[in-house]
Amino acid sequence: MCSIIGYKGQLDVAPLLVNSLERMEYRGYDSVGIATINDGKIILKKGVGKVADVNKRLDLGSLPGDTGVGHTRWATHGSVTNTNAHPHYGCTDSIAIVHNGIIENHKELREELIGIGHIFKSDTDSEVIAHLLEKYYVDQKNIKKAVIDTCKRLEGAYAFVAVFEDGTICGSRYNEPLIIGSVDTGHFISSDILGFLEYTNKAIYLENRDTVILDSKTLQIFDMEGNPVNRPITQVAWELASVDKGKYAHHTLKEIHEQPVIVEKAGTQNLDRVKEFCNIVRNSRTVFLTGSGTSYHCALIAKHLLSNFAKIHAETMVSSEFQYTLDGIDNTSVLLAISQSGETADVLQAVKAAKHMGARILSIVNIPTSSLARISDWFLLIECGPEVGVAATKSFTAQLSLIYTIVDRLCNGCLSFEADKAFLGGALREILDTEIEIHRIAERLRDATDIYIIGRSIHYPIALEGALKLKELAYIHAEGMTAGELKHGPLALIGSNSYVIIINPNDTTSNDNIATAHEIKARGATIIGISDRPNDVYDIFIKIPSVKSIFYPIIEVLPFQILAYYLALAKNADPDYPRNLAKSVTVK
Ligand code: G6P
Repeated sequence: MCSIIGYKGQLDVAPLLVNSLERMEYRGYDSVGIATINDGKIILKKGVGKVADVNKRLDLGSLPGDTGVGHTRWATHGSVTNTNAHPHYGCTDSIAIVHNGIIENHKELREELIGIGHIFKSDTDSEVIAHLLEKYYVDQKNIKKAVIDTCKRLEGAYAFVAVFEDGTICGSRYNEPLIIGSVDTGHFISSDILGFLEYTNKAIYLENRDTVILDSKTLQIFDMEGNPVNRPITQVAWELASVDKGKYAHHTLKEIHEQPVIVEKAGTQNLDRVKEFCNIVRNSRTVFLTGSGTSYHCALIAKHLLSNFAKIHAETMVSSEFQYTLDGIDNTSVLLAISQSGETADVLQAVKAAKHMGARILSIVNIPTSSLARISDWFLLIECGPEVGVAATKSFTAQLSLIYTIVDRLCNGCLSFEADKAFLGGALREILDTEIEIHRIAERLRDATDIYIIGRSIHYPIALEGALKLKELAYIHAEGMTAGELKHGPLALIGSNSYVIIINPNDTTSNDNIATAHEIKARGATIIGISDRPNDVYDIFIKIPSVKSIFYPIIEVLPFQILAYYLALAKNADPDYPRNLAKSVTVK
Protein backbone atom coordinates (compact mmCIF):
# COMPACT_ATOMS: atom_id res chain seq x y z
CA MET A 1 0.00 0.00 0.00
CA CYS A 2 2.55 2.52 1.14
CA SER A 3 6.24 2.16 0.55
CA ILE A 4 8.96 2.65 3.12
CA ILE A 5 12.65 3.15 2.58
CA GLY A 6 15.42 3.91 5.06
CA TYR A 7 19.19 4.15 4.56
CA LYS A 8 22.11 4.62 6.87
CA GLY A 9 25.63 4.59 5.54
CA GLN A 10 28.33 6.64 3.91
CA LEU A 11 26.49 7.98 0.86
CA ASP A 12 24.30 11.07 0.40
CA VAL A 13 21.00 9.65 1.48
CA ALA A 14 18.40 11.91 -0.16
CA PRO A 15 19.04 10.99 -3.84
CA LEU A 16 19.10 7.31 -2.85
CA LEU A 17 15.76 7.62 -1.09
CA VAL A 18 14.16 9.47 -4.00
CA ASN A 19 15.35 6.83 -6.45
CA SER A 20 14.12 3.99 -4.24
CA LEU A 21 10.73 5.61 -3.77
CA GLU A 22 10.33 5.98 -7.54
CA ARG A 23 10.98 2.27 -7.92
CA MET A 24 8.40 1.36 -5.30
CA GLU A 25 5.82 3.93 -6.33
CA TYR A 26 3.50 1.16 -7.52
CA ARG A 27 2.73 0.56 -3.82
CA GLY A 28 1.10 3.95 -3.36
CA TYR A 29 1.53 7.30 -4.96
CA ASP A 30 -0.73 9.98 -3.56
CA SER A 31 1.95 11.74 -1.52
CA VAL A 32 5.62 11.46 -0.72
CA GLY A 33 8.12 12.63 1.83
CA ILE A 34 11.62 12.12 3.19
CA ALA A 35 13.45 13.01 6.40
CA THR A 36 17.21 13.08 6.78
CA ILE A 37 19.56 13.83 9.63
CA ASN A 38 22.05 16.63 9.34
CA ASP A 39 24.21 17.96 12.19
CA GLY A 40 22.12 16.12 14.79
CA LYS A 41 18.84 17.55 13.48
CA ILE A 42 16.04 15.90 11.50
CA ILE A 43 14.99 17.83 8.39
CA LEU A 44 11.82 16.85 6.61
CA LYS A 45 10.10 17.62 3.32
CA LYS A 46 6.82 16.15 2.14
CA GLY A 47 3.94 16.92 -0.19
CA VAL A 48 1.04 15.62 -2.22
CA GLY A 49 1.74 14.08 -5.63
CA LYS A 50 3.91 11.51 -7.33
CA VAL A 51 7.59 11.22 -6.45
CA ALA A 52 8.87 13.00 -9.57
CA ASP A 53 6.41 15.90 -9.19
CA VAL A 54 7.01 16.43 -5.48
CA ASN A 55 10.75 16.15 -6.03
CA LYS A 56 10.56 18.80 -8.74
CA ARG A 57 8.56 21.07 -6.45
CA LEU A 58 10.39 20.56 -3.19
CA ASP A 59 13.79 19.28 -4.33
CA LEU A 60 13.63 16.32 -1.94
CA GLY A 61 16.90 14.99 -3.30
CA SER A 62 18.82 17.98 -1.99
CA LEU A 63 18.27 17.25 1.71
CA PRO A 64 21.71 16.78 3.30
CA GLY A 65 22.90 13.84 5.38
CA ASP A 66 23.80 10.16 5.15
CA THR A 67 20.88 8.80 7.20
CA GLY A 68 17.21 9.10 6.39
CA VAL A 69 13.80 7.62 5.69
CA GLY A 70 11.30 8.07 2.88
CA HIS A 71 7.72 7.11 2.13
CA THR A 72 5.08 7.07 -0.57
CA ARG A 73 1.53 7.04 0.72
CA TRP A 74 -1.70 5.36 -0.34
CA ALA A 75 -4.24 6.99 1.96
CA THR A 76 -6.24 4.81 4.32
CA HIS A 77 -6.80 7.06 7.36
CA GLY A 78 -6.93 10.78 6.65
CA SER A 79 -7.33 12.40 3.26
CA VAL A 80 -4.57 13.17 0.80
CA THR A 81 -2.95 16.32 2.23
CA ASN A 82 0.56 17.59 2.88
CA THR A 83 0.03 17.20 6.62
CA ASN A 84 -1.09 13.58 6.33
CA ALA A 85 1.90 12.69 4.15
CA HIS A 86 4.72 10.84 5.93
CA PRO A 87 7.21 11.13 7.66
CA HIS A 88 5.51 12.15 10.90
CA TYR A 89 7.16 13.75 13.90
CA GLY A 90 6.08 13.22 17.47
CA CYS A 91 5.56 16.43 19.49
CA THR A 92 9.11 17.51 18.82
CA ASP A 93 11.26 17.00 15.76
CA SER A 94 13.62 14.57 17.50
CA ILE A 95 11.96 11.46 16.01
CA ALA A 96 10.36 10.96 12.58
CA ILE A 97 8.57 7.85 11.40
CA VAL A 98 7.22 6.31 8.21
CA HIS A 99 4.59 3.59 8.35
CA ASN A 100 2.84 1.07 6.13
CA GLY A 101 -0.27 -0.73 7.41
CA ILE A 102 -3.23 0.10 9.60
CA ILE A 103 -3.07 0.66 13.34
CA GLU A 104 -6.49 -0.59 14.39
CA ASN A 105 -6.40 0.81 17.93
CA HIS A 106 -5.14 4.23 16.84
CA LYS A 107 -8.16 6.07 18.29
CA GLU A 108 -7.63 4.72 21.81
CA LEU A 109 -3.89 5.34 21.61
CA ARG A 110 -4.40 8.87 20.34
CA GLU A 111 -6.81 9.69 23.18
CA GLU A 112 -4.43 8.24 25.74
CA LEU A 113 -1.49 10.22 24.36
CA ILE A 114 -3.50 13.43 24.10
CA GLY A 115 -4.47 12.83 27.73
CA ILE A 116 -0.81 13.05 28.74
CA GLY A 117 -0.15 16.15 26.72
CA HIS A 118 0.79 14.96 23.23
CA ILE A 119 -0.32 17.17 20.37
CA PHE A 120 -1.26 15.53 17.07
CA LYS A 121 -0.96 17.25 13.72
CA SER A 122 -2.32 14.80 11.19
CA ASP A 123 -5.48 12.68 10.80
CA THR A 124 -3.48 9.51 10.22
CA ASP A 125 -3.40 6.36 12.29
CA SER A 126 0.38 6.30 11.73
CA GLU A 127 1.16 9.37 13.82
CA VAL A 128 0.49 7.44 17.05
CA ILE A 129 3.66 5.46 16.37
CA ALA A 130 5.79 8.61 16.45
CA HIS A 131 4.19 9.75 19.71
CA LEU A 132 4.45 6.35 21.38
CA LEU A 133 8.12 6.06 20.42
CA GLU A 134 8.70 9.56 21.72
CA LYS A 135 6.93 8.83 25.00
CA TYR A 136 8.84 5.62 25.66
CA TYR A 137 12.14 7.13 24.55
CA VAL A 138 11.73 10.17 26.80
CA ASP A 139 10.84 7.83 29.71
CA GLN A 140 13.66 5.29 29.19
CA LYS A 141 16.34 6.88 26.97
CA ASN A 142 16.72 3.46 25.32
CA ILE A 143 15.80 3.09 21.66
CA LYS A 144 15.51 -0.70 21.71
CA LYS A 145 13.13 -0.66 24.66
CA ALA A 146 11.17 2.25 23.19
CA VAL A 147 10.59 0.35 19.92
CA ILE A 148 9.62 -2.89 21.64
CA ASP A 149 7.28 -1.13 24.06
CA THR A 150 5.72 0.76 21.17
CA CYS A 151 5.16 -2.46 19.18
CA LYS A 152 3.52 -4.07 22.20
CA ARG A 153 0.87 -1.33 22.14
CA LEU A 154 0.05 -1.56 18.43
CA GLU A 155 -2.88 -3.60 17.13
CA GLY A 156 -3.32 -4.20 13.42
CA ALA A 157 -0.66 -4.49 10.78
CA TYR A 158 2.45 -2.42 10.56
CA ALA A 159 5.89 -1.95 9.14
CA PHE A 160 7.53 1.23 10.34
CA VAL A 161 10.93 2.82 10.29
CA ALA A 162 11.97 5.66 12.57
CA VAL A 163 14.95 8.01 12.59
CA PHE A 164 16.20 9.51 15.82
CA GLU A 165 18.15 12.75 15.87
CA ASP A 166 21.20 10.89 17.23
CA GLY A 167 21.40 9.17 13.83
CA THR A 168 19.92 5.81 14.80
CA ILE A 169 17.42 4.16 12.49
CA CYS A 170 15.09 1.49 13.79
CA GLY A 171 12.16 -0.45 12.42
CA SER A 172 9.73 -3.22 13.11
CA ARG A 173 7.06 -5.17 11.29
CA TYR A 174 3.92 -7.20 11.84
CA ASN A 175 2.05 -8.59 8.82
CA GLU A 176 3.55 -5.95 6.52
CA PRO A 177 6.88 -6.52 4.77
CA LEU A 178 10.19 -5.00 5.86
CA ILE A 179 13.42 -6.10 4.25
CA ILE A 180 17.03 -5.12 4.86
CA GLY A 181 19.45 -4.70 1.99
CA SER A 182 23.14 -4.71 2.88
CA VAL A 183 25.64 -2.78 0.76
CA ASP A 184 29.34 -2.02 1.31
CA THR A 185 28.45 1.55 2.18
CA GLY A 186 25.66 0.80 4.68
CA HIS A 187 22.16 -0.66 4.94
CA PHE A 188 18.72 -0.11 3.45
CA ILE A 189 15.42 -0.94 5.15
CA SER A 190 12.63 -1.24 2.63
CA SER A 191 9.10 -2.46 1.96
CA ASP A 192 10.22 -4.22 -1.19
CA ILE A 193 13.50 -5.49 -2.57
CA LEU A 194 12.93 -3.11 -5.50
CA GLY A 195 13.81 -0.35 -3.04
CA PHE A 196 17.46 -1.41 -3.02
CA LEU A 197 17.94 -4.07 -5.69
CA GLU A 198 19.80 -1.62 -7.89
CA TYR A 199 22.56 -1.54 -5.25
CA THR A 200 22.53 -5.02 -3.70
CA ASN A 201 20.87 -8.40 -4.09
CA LYS A 202 21.63 -9.42 -0.51
CA ALA A 203 18.38 -9.23 1.44
CA ILE A 204 17.41 -10.03 5.00
CA TYR A 205 13.68 -10.66 5.42
CA LEU A 206 12.55 -9.59 8.89
CA GLU A 207 10.12 -11.94 10.61
CA ASN A 208 6.91 -10.73 12.24
CA ARG A 209 7.62 -8.69 15.37
CA ASP A 210 11.36 -8.40 14.68
CA THR A 211 12.92 -5.10 15.59
CA VAL A 212 15.96 -3.84 13.72
CA ILE A 213 18.33 -1.17 14.96
CA LEU A 214 20.97 0.48 12.84
CA ASP A 215 23.32 2.73 14.75
CA SER A 216 26.62 4.21 13.61
CA LYS A 217 28.38 0.84 13.64
CA THR A 218 26.06 -2.12 13.76
CA LEU A 219 22.88 -3.67 12.50
CA GLN A 220 21.10 -5.70 15.15
CA ILE A 221 17.83 -7.60 15.05
CA PHE A 222 15.87 -8.43 18.19
CA ASP A 223 12.73 -10.37 19.09
CA MET A 224 9.97 -8.91 21.24
CA GLU A 225 11.78 -9.92 24.41
CA GLY A 226 14.80 -7.93 23.29
CA ASN A 227 16.93 -11.01 22.57
CA PRO A 228 19.19 -10.82 19.52
CA VAL A 229 18.04 -13.02 16.60
CA ASN A 230 19.78 -14.09 13.42
CA ARG A 231 17.97 -13.89 10.13
CA PRO A 232 19.50 -15.45 7.01
CA ILE A 233 20.74 -13.46 4.03
CA THR A 234 18.79 -14.29 0.86
CA GLN A 235 20.33 -13.74 -2.58
CA VAL A 236 17.64 -12.17 -4.71
CA ALA A 237 17.53 -12.52 -8.51
CA TRP A 238 18.97 -9.38 -10.10
CA GLU A 239 16.61 -9.50 -13.08
CA LEU A 240 13.86 -8.12 -10.88
CA ALA A 241 15.62 -4.77 -11.06
CA SER A 242 14.94 -4.35 -14.78
CA VAL A 243 11.99 -2.02 -14.60
CA ASP A 244 12.59 0.55 -17.33
CA LYS A 245 9.94 1.33 -19.96
CA GLY A 246 12.16 0.65 -22.95
CA LYS A 247 10.75 2.23 -26.11
CA TYR A 248 7.20 2.39 -24.72
CA ALA A 249 5.36 5.43 -23.39
CA HIS A 250 4.18 3.56 -20.31
CA HIS A 251 5.05 0.45 -18.34
CA THR A 252 1.52 -0.82 -18.96
CA LEU A 253 1.97 -0.67 -22.74
CA LYS A 254 5.36 -2.36 -22.49
CA GLU A 255 3.92 -5.10 -20.31
CA ILE A 256 1.00 -5.61 -22.74
CA HIS A 257 3.52 -6.09 -25.54
CA GLU A 258 5.58 -8.62 -23.58
CA GLN A 259 2.73 -11.13 -23.55
CA PRO A 260 3.47 -13.13 -26.73
CA VAL A 261 6.93 -14.06 -25.44
CA ILE A 262 5.55 -14.84 -21.98
CA VAL A 263 3.10 -17.35 -23.44
CA GLU A 264 5.73 -18.88 -25.70
CA LYS A 265 8.11 -19.38 -22.79
CA ALA A 266 5.47 -20.53 -20.28
CA GLY A 267 6.24 -23.58 -18.19
CA THR A 268 9.98 -23.55 -18.90
CA GLN A 269 10.68 -23.36 -15.18
CA ASN A 270 11.88 -26.37 -13.26
CA LEU A 271 9.58 -29.17 -14.37
CA ASP A 272 10.23 -31.08 -11.14
CA ARG A 273 8.55 -28.26 -9.27
CA VAL A 274 5.50 -28.51 -11.53
CA LYS A 275 5.49 -32.30 -11.04
CA GLU A 276 5.48 -31.99 -7.26
CA PHE A 277 2.79 -29.28 -7.44
CA CYS A 278 0.61 -31.65 -9.49
CA ASN A 279 1.21 -34.51 -7.03
CA ILE A 280 -0.07 -32.36 -4.19
CA VAL A 281 -3.16 -31.43 -6.24
CA ARG A 282 -3.80 -35.08 -7.17
CA ASN A 283 -3.59 -36.20 -3.55
CA SER A 284 -6.22 -33.74 -2.36
CA ARG A 285 -9.95 -34.29 -2.13
CA THR A 286 -10.84 -30.72 -3.09
CA VAL A 287 -8.80 -27.84 -4.44
CA PHE A 288 -9.98 -24.46 -3.20
CA LEU A 289 -8.81 -21.60 -5.40
CA THR A 290 -8.49 -18.04 -4.27
CA GLY A 291 -7.10 -14.66 -5.32
CA SER A 292 -8.05 -10.99 -5.55
CA GLY A 293 -8.80 -8.80 -8.55
CA THR A 294 -7.20 -10.11 -11.71
CA SER A 295 -5.69 -13.11 -9.92
CA TYR A 296 -9.19 -14.13 -8.85
CA HIS A 297 -10.29 -14.08 -12.48
CA CYS A 298 -7.44 -16.44 -13.22
CA ALA A 299 -8.66 -18.66 -10.38
CA LEU A 300 -12.10 -18.84 -12.03
CA ILE A 301 -10.57 -20.08 -15.26
CA ALA A 302 -8.36 -22.50 -13.31
CA LYS A 303 -11.45 -23.98 -11.66
CA HIS A 304 -13.08 -24.53 -15.03
CA LEU A 305 -10.00 -26.27 -16.40
CA LEU A 306 -9.35 -28.39 -13.30
CA SER A 307 -12.97 -29.59 -13.16
CA ASN A 308 -13.54 -30.17 -16.85
CA PHE A 309 -10.20 -31.50 -17.97
CA ALA A 310 -8.31 -32.81 -14.93
CA LYS A 311 -11.59 -34.00 -13.32
CA ILE A 312 -10.50 -32.55 -10.01
CA HIS A 313 -13.08 -31.19 -7.63
CA ALA A 314 -12.38 -27.48 -7.39
CA GLU A 315 -14.10 -24.54 -5.67
CA THR A 316 -13.34 -20.85 -6.09
CA MET A 317 -13.73 -18.05 -3.59
CA VAL A 318 -12.51 -14.48 -3.79
CA SER A 319 -9.89 -13.96 -1.05
CA SER A 320 -11.64 -11.16 0.83
CA GLU A 321 -14.64 -13.49 1.42
CA PHE A 322 -12.69 -16.68 2.00
CA GLN A 323 -12.56 -16.53 5.78
CA TYR A 324 -16.37 -16.49 5.96
CA THR A 325 -16.85 -19.75 4.04
CA LEU A 326 -14.51 -22.27 5.58
CA ASP A 327 -16.94 -25.20 5.76
CA GLY A 328 -15.59 -28.21 3.96
CA ILE A 329 -11.92 -27.24 4.28
CA ASP A 330 -9.87 -29.79 6.18
CA ASN A 331 -6.62 -31.71 5.97
CA THR A 332 -7.71 -33.41 2.75
CA SER A 333 -8.00 -30.01 1.05
CA VAL A 334 -5.53 -27.91 -0.86
CA LEU A 335 -5.79 -24.15 -1.07
CA LEU A 336 -4.30 -22.80 -4.29
CA ALA A 337 -3.67 -19.08 -3.81
CA ILE A 338 -2.91 -17.01 -6.91
CA SER A 339 -1.25 -13.62 -6.50
CA GLN A 340 1.12 -11.63 -8.67
CA SER A 341 2.69 -9.79 -5.76
CA GLY A 342 2.33 -12.50 -3.15
CA GLU A 343 1.68 -9.69 -0.67
CA THR A 344 -2.08 -9.04 -0.99
CA ALA A 345 -3.44 -8.97 2.56
CA ASP A 346 -6.76 -10.57 1.64
CA VAL A 347 -4.96 -13.49 0.04
CA LEU A 348 -2.62 -13.95 3.01
CA GLN A 349 -5.63 -13.86 5.31
CA ALA A 350 -7.34 -16.61 3.26
CA VAL A 351 -4.18 -18.69 3.43
CA LYS A 352 -3.98 -18.33 7.20
CA ALA A 353 -7.63 -19.36 7.56
CA ALA A 354 -7.19 -22.42 5.33
CA LYS A 355 -3.97 -23.41 7.12
CA HIS A 356 -5.82 -23.21 10.38
CA MET A 357 -8.36 -25.71 9.02
CA GLY A 358 -5.53 -28.09 8.10
CA ALA A 359 -5.33 -27.49 4.34
CA ARG A 360 -2.06 -27.68 2.42
CA ILE A 361 -1.11 -24.43 0.71
CA LEU A 362 -0.04 -24.14 -2.89
CA SER A 363 0.59 -20.82 -4.52
CA ILE A 364 1.29 -19.24 -7.88
CA VAL A 365 3.27 -16.02 -7.55
CA ASN A 366 5.61 -13.73 -9.45
CA ILE A 367 7.95 -12.96 -6.56
CA PRO A 368 9.75 -15.99 -5.07
CA THR A 369 10.61 -14.15 -1.88
CA SER A 370 7.08 -12.83 -1.30
CA SER A 371 5.16 -13.50 1.91
CA LEU A 372 2.79 -15.84 0.08
CA ALA A 373 5.60 -17.94 -1.42
CA ARG A 374 7.23 -18.16 1.95
CA ILE A 375 4.17 -19.40 3.82
CA SER A 376 3.14 -21.90 1.13
CA ASP A 377 3.94 -25.61 1.28
CA TRP A 378 4.85 -25.39 -2.39
CA PHE A 379 4.80 -22.60 -4.95
CA LEU A 380 5.31 -22.06 -8.65
CA LEU A 381 6.54 -18.91 -10.35
CA ILE A 382 4.82 -17.24 -13.27
CA GLU A 383 8.19 -15.84 -14.38
CA CYS A 384 6.98 -12.79 -16.28
CA GLY A 385 9.47 -10.31 -14.79
CA PRO A 386 8.45 -7.34 -12.67
CA GLU A 387 5.05 -5.87 -13.47
CA VAL A 388 5.07 -2.14 -12.72
CA GLY A 389 1.76 -1.00 -14.21
CA VAL A 390 -0.79 -1.10 -11.41
CA ALA A 391 -3.38 -2.85 -13.56
CA ALA A 392 -2.32 -6.44 -14.08
CA THR A 393 -1.76 -7.38 -17.71
CA LYS A 394 1.17 -9.69 -18.43
CA SER A 395 0.94 -11.34 -15.01
CA PHE A 396 -2.58 -12.50 -15.89
CA THR A 397 -1.44 -14.07 -19.14
CA ALA A 398 1.50 -15.65 -17.32
CA GLN A 399 -0.77 -17.02 -14.57
CA LEU A 400 -3.12 -18.45 -17.19
CA SER A 401 -0.25 -20.01 -19.12
CA LEU A 402 1.02 -21.69 -15.98
CA ILE A 403 -2.48 -22.97 -15.17
CA TYR A 404 -2.75 -24.47 -18.66
CA THR A 405 0.66 -26.10 -18.14
CA ILE A 406 -0.44 -27.59 -14.81
CA VAL A 407 -3.83 -28.81 -16.01
CA ASP A 408 -2.26 -30.27 -19.12
CA ARG A 409 0.04 -32.32 -16.94
CA LEU A 410 -2.84 -33.38 -14.68
CA CYS A 411 -4.88 -34.59 -17.67
CA ASN A 412 -1.92 -36.34 -19.31
CA GLY A 413 -1.52 -33.84 -22.13
CA CYS A 414 -5.21 -33.61 -23.11
CA LEU A 415 -4.91 -29.85 -23.79
CA SER A 416 -1.63 -30.10 -25.72
CA PHE A 417 -0.77 -26.62 -24.49
CA GLU A 418 2.95 -27.16 -25.01
CA ALA A 419 2.41 -27.78 -28.71
CA ASP A 420 0.13 -24.74 -29.08
CA LYS A 421 2.21 -22.16 -27.22
CA ALA A 422 4.04 -20.86 -30.27
CA PHE A 423 0.76 -20.56 -32.17
CA LEU A 424 -0.84 -18.65 -29.28
CA GLY A 425 2.16 -16.30 -29.13
CA GLY A 426 1.61 -15.64 -32.85
CA ALA A 427 -2.11 -15.02 -32.26
CA LEU A 428 -1.28 -12.43 -29.60
CA ARG A 429 1.09 -10.70 -32.04
CA GLU A 430 -1.68 -10.59 -34.65
CA ILE A 431 -3.91 -8.79 -32.14
CA LEU A 432 -1.09 -6.39 -31.24
CA ASP A 433 -0.82 -5.62 -34.96
CA THR A 434 -4.39 -4.25 -34.76
CA GLU A 435 -3.47 -1.88 -31.93
CA ILE A 436 -4.16 1.20 -34.08
CA GLU A 437 -7.66 -0.01 -34.85
CA ILE A 438 -8.39 -0.68 -31.17
CA HIS A 439 -6.98 2.78 -30.42
CA ARG A 440 -9.55 4.24 -32.82
CA ILE A 441 -12.33 2.29 -31.13
CA ALA A 442 -11.15 3.70 -27.80
CA GLU A 443 -11.55 7.21 -29.23
CA ARG A 444 -15.15 6.34 -30.16
CA LEU A 445 -15.86 5.06 -26.65
CA ARG A 446 -14.20 7.88 -24.73
CA ASP A 447 -17.53 9.39 -23.62
CA ALA A 448 -19.13 6.07 -22.72
CA THR A 449 -20.38 6.02 -19.15
CA ASP A 450 -21.56 2.41 -18.95
CA ILE A 451 -20.10 -0.59 -20.70
CA TYR A 452 -21.45 -4.11 -20.23
CA ILE A 453 -19.24 -7.05 -21.09
CA ILE A 454 -20.75 -10.44 -21.59
CA GLY A 455 -19.47 -13.93 -22.28
CA ARG A 456 -20.38 -17.49 -21.40
CA SER A 457 -18.54 -20.42 -19.91
CA ILE A 458 -14.77 -19.93 -19.89
CA HIS A 459 -15.21 -16.47 -21.41
CA TYR A 460 -17.14 -15.19 -18.39
CA PRO A 461 -13.98 -14.62 -16.26
CA ILE A 462 -12.59 -12.63 -19.20
CA ALA A 463 -15.75 -10.49 -19.15
CA LEU A 464 -14.99 -9.79 -15.48
CA GLU A 465 -11.33 -9.09 -16.23
CA GLY A 466 -12.19 -6.84 -19.19
CA ALA A 467 -14.56 -4.84 -16.97
CA LEU A 468 -11.90 -4.56 -14.29
CA LYS A 469 -9.40 -3.14 -16.83
CA LEU A 470 -11.93 -0.54 -17.99
CA LYS A 471 -12.70 0.45 -14.40
CA GLU A 472 -9.06 0.56 -13.25
CA LEU A 473 -7.52 2.29 -16.23
CA ALA A 474 -10.30 4.27 -17.88
CA TYR A 475 -12.53 5.04 -14.88
CA ILE A 476 -15.58 3.83 -16.80
CA HIS A 477 -18.39 2.01 -15.09
CA ALA A 478 -18.07 -1.44 -16.62
CA GLU A 479 -19.77 -4.66 -15.63
CA GLY A 480 -18.79 -8.14 -16.61
CA MET A 481 -21.52 -10.76 -16.54
CA THR A 482 -22.54 -14.07 -18.00
CA ALA A 483 -24.42 -13.47 -21.21
CA GLY A 484 -27.38 -15.51 -19.99
CA GLU A 485 -27.86 -13.39 -16.87
CA LEU A 486 -28.23 -10.14 -18.79
CA LYS A 487 -31.93 -10.78 -19.38
CA HIS A 488 -32.50 -11.42 -15.65
CA GLY A 489 -32.29 -7.79 -14.61
CA PRO A 490 -29.45 -5.84 -16.24
CA LEU A 491 -31.40 -5.67 -19.53
CA ALA A 492 -33.56 -3.01 -17.84
CA LEU A 493 -30.51 -0.70 -17.97
CA ILE A 494 -29.81 -1.17 -21.66
CA GLY A 495 -30.72 1.73 -23.93
CA SER A 496 -29.33 3.78 -26.77
CA ASN A 497 -26.47 5.10 -24.62
CA SER A 498 -25.27 1.64 -23.63
CA TYR A 499 -22.29 -0.17 -25.04
CA VAL A 500 -22.18 -3.95 -24.80
CA ILE A 501 -19.05 -5.93 -25.60
CA ILE A 502 -19.71 -9.55 -26.48
CA ILE A 503 -16.87 -12.04 -26.17
CA ASN A 504 -17.93 -14.39 -28.88
CA PRO A 505 -15.33 -16.62 -30.50
CA ASN A 506 -16.61 -19.37 -32.72
CA ASP A 507 -17.21 -22.09 -30.15
CA THR A 508 -20.17 -23.79 -28.49
CA THR A 509 -21.25 -20.54 -26.81
CA SER A 510 -21.47 -18.55 -30.03
CA ASN A 511 -25.05 -19.18 -31.24
CA ASP A 512 -26.51 -18.30 -27.86
CA ASN A 513 -24.37 -15.16 -27.76
CA ILE A 514 -25.64 -14.02 -31.13
CA ALA A 515 -29.22 -14.46 -29.91
CA THR A 516 -28.38 -12.36 -26.84
CA ALA A 517 -26.74 -9.74 -29.05
CA HIS A 518 -29.96 -9.35 -31.02
CA GLU A 519 -31.98 -8.90 -27.83
CA ILE A 520 -29.61 -6.13 -26.77
CA LYS A 521 -29.52 -4.49 -30.17
CA ALA A 522 -33.32 -4.36 -30.18
CA ARG A 523 -33.00 -2.07 -27.10
CA GLY A 524 -30.80 0.37 -28.98
CA ALA A 525 -27.36 -0.46 -27.53
CA THR A 526 -24.16 -0.38 -29.51
CA ILE A 527 -22.74 -3.89 -29.85
CA ILE A 528 -19.01 -4.50 -29.95
CA GLY A 529 -18.09 -8.05 -30.92
CA ILE A 530 -14.78 -9.66 -30.06
CA SER A 531 -14.60 -12.69 -32.26
CA ASP A 532 -12.68 -14.57 -34.92
CA ARG A 533 -15.56 -14.11 -37.36
CA PRO A 534 -17.68 -11.06 -38.17
CA ASN A 535 -21.45 -10.90 -37.75
CA ASP A 536 -23.99 -8.33 -38.90
CA VAL A 537 -25.17 -7.80 -35.35
CA TYR A 538 -21.90 -6.12 -34.37
CA ASP A 539 -21.77 -2.33 -34.72
CA ILE A 540 -18.05 -2.47 -33.99
CA PHE A 541 -15.93 -5.53 -34.62
CA ILE A 542 -12.63 -6.44 -32.94
CA LYS A 543 -11.11 -9.36 -34.76
CA ILE A 544 -9.09 -11.99 -32.95
CA PRO A 545 -7.48 -15.00 -34.64
CA SER A 546 -9.01 -18.49 -34.43
CA VAL A 547 -7.34 -20.73 -31.86
CA LYS A 548 -8.28 -24.00 -30.17
CA SER A 549 -11.46 -23.12 -28.26
CA ILE A 550 -10.11 -23.86 -24.78
CA PHE A 551 -7.25 -21.34 -25.27
CA TYR A 552 -9.39 -18.32 -26.17
CA PRO A 553 -9.09 -16.73 -22.71
CA ILE A 554 -5.36 -16.23 -23.28
CA ILE A 555 -5.89 -14.15 -26.38
CA GLU A 556 -9.29 -12.53 -25.92
CA VAL A 557 -8.19 -10.56 -22.84
CA LEU A 558 -5.66 -8.64 -24.95
CA PRO A 559 -8.16 -6.38 -26.81
CA PHE A 560 -9.54 -5.29 -23.42
CA GLN A 561 -6.08 -4.39 -22.14
CA ILE A 562 -5.32 -2.34 -25.26
CA LEU A 563 -8.76 -0.71 -25.22
CA ALA A 564 -8.48 0.23 -21.55
CA TYR A 565 -4.95 1.59 -22.06
CA TYR A 566 -6.02 3.89 -24.92
CA LEU A 567 -9.22 4.91 -23.12
CA ALA A 568 -7.03 5.98 -20.18
CA LEU A 569 -4.95 8.12 -22.55
CA ALA A 570 -8.08 9.53 -24.20
CA LYS A 571 -9.28 10.62 -20.76
CA ASN A 572 -5.91 12.04 -19.70
CA ALA A 573 -5.53 9.40 -17.00
CA ASP A 574 -2.15 7.89 -16.15
CA PRO A 575 -2.39 4.24 -17.23
CA ASP A 576 0.53 3.17 -15.02
CA TYR A 577 -0.81 4.72 -11.83
CA PRO A 578 -4.63 4.81 -11.76
CA ARG A 579 -6.18 7.03 -9.11
CA ASN A 580 -7.01 5.51 -5.70
CA LEU A 581 -5.32 2.18 -6.50
CA ALA A 582 -2.11 0.48 -5.49
CA LYS A 583 -0.46 -2.49 -7.06
CA SER A 584 0.16 -4.32 -3.87
CA VAL A 585 -2.75 -4.01 -1.45
CA THR A 586 -1.23 -5.05 1.84
CA VAL A 587 -4.14 -3.87 3.99
CA LYS A 588 -7.48 -5.62 4.50
C1 G6P B 1 -4.73 -4.81 -6.45
C2 G6P B 1 -4.51 -4.38 -7.89
C3 G6P B 1 -5.20 -5.37 -8.83
C4 G6P B 1 -4.71 -6.79 -8.55
C5 G6P B 1 -5.01 -7.18 -7.11
C6 G6P B 1 -4.43 -8.52 -6.72
O1 G6P B 1 -6.05 -4.57 -6.09
O2 G6P B 1 -5.01 -3.08 -8.11
O3 G6P B 1 -4.89 -5.02 -10.17
O4 G6P B 1 -5.33 -7.68 -9.44
O5 G6P B 1 -4.41 -6.20 -6.24
O6 G6P B 1 -3.04 -8.46 -6.71
P1 G6P B 1 -2.10 -9.72 -6.59
O7 G6P B 1 -0.72 -9.15 -6.43
O8 G6P B 1 -2.54 -10.47 -5.36
O9 G6P B 1 -2.29 -10.54 -7.81
